[in-house]
Amino acid sequence: MNGNVRAARASAPAKVILLGEHAVVYGFPAIAVPVSSLRVFAEVKPNPHPDRELRITGAGLELYSVPSSVSEQADDALAYTVRLFTQMMSVPPPNVTITIDSHIPIAGGLGSGAAVTAALGRALALASDISLPDHLLNDLVYEVEKMHHGTPSGIDNTVIVYERPIYFTRSAGYDLLTIGTPFLLLIADTGEKSLTRTAVADVRRLREASPNRTEKVLSAIGDLVTQARQAIESGDPQKLGSLMTENHELLCELTVSSQQLDILVKAARQAGAWGAKLSGGGRGGNMIALVPFDLEDAVRQALYDAGAVRVFRTVIESGLN
Ligand code: PMV
Repeated sequence: MNGNVRAARASAPAKVILLGEHAVVYGFPAIAVPVSSLRVFAEVKPNPHPDRELRITGAGLELYSVPSSVSEQADDALAYTVRLFTQMMSVPPPNVTITIDSHIPIAGGLGSGAAVTAALGRALALASDISLPDHLLNDLVYEVEKMHHGTPSGIDNTVIVYERPIYFTRSAGYDLLTIGTPFLLLIADTGEKSLTRTAVADVRRLREASPNRTEKVLSAIGDLVTQARQAIESGDPQKLGSLMTENHELLCELTVSSQQLDILVKAARQAGAWGAKLSGGGRGGNMIALVPFDLEDAVRQALYDAGAVRVFRTVIESGLN
């Protein structure tokens, strides 16, 4: 690979979980959609410093790594990605410079870690003229996700790699969803960083301490997801919104909401959103609101007034995402 690397650039999107986070870890279904307007870009170039094996740069970051010496425990997910790529593709460690340019807030439940890995995997394949089919890229991203999350369900890597709305279960994988009617999501950032790994571990402890009660909540979330699939496919955003709000209440019972998430959920609903909930690991990060198109400005303003530090928009429609 070293001899023939050329410059290449690739990208991957952010994602949000519409319904079913946390329960998906225990085998229940969940629905996730890509956020194609929020992306991370990875650029791979032949290394101008041939004495160093791998050079990684980013905003204010420049480090050198030898991918073959990187372990699963290493903090350096980028070098680990390169190592897994070389193993999977049976190529020698590349002598390249990697530059990551991410527009996705980190530690906010938007899948920034999985998106970085997906973009880098694609860029490495392009740079070395290797075909990397999506199912292999998905395996690669899942492996790196384990480093970030411990026991990931696999939903983040799947929605990010395929960049389509998906219905996902751990046992059966993903189904691509048909979107009956396009719908608008506003995504609001609490500004509170939170680690998915911690929230997932706390839900596990809750499940051990109160198995019956917790299992009931997880299973109720699973039922909402089944109904939500129907609402999405038949084009009933109002129904979908109310299912999302119910899902938020169940996530509160799992203790993964936060005061600021609850404030933003309430503000969105009071301003006319059809429904709102936290999205992802919770305890901070981002929430989502399903908003009638004509109320977009009002709900966005209400979210900022209630303390959101950023509000993104995305329209979910079949085939375009
Ligand atoms: O990466 P996050 O914060 O969007 O969380 C992923 C969703 C969880 O269900 C909480 C964890 C998982 O692996 O599915």
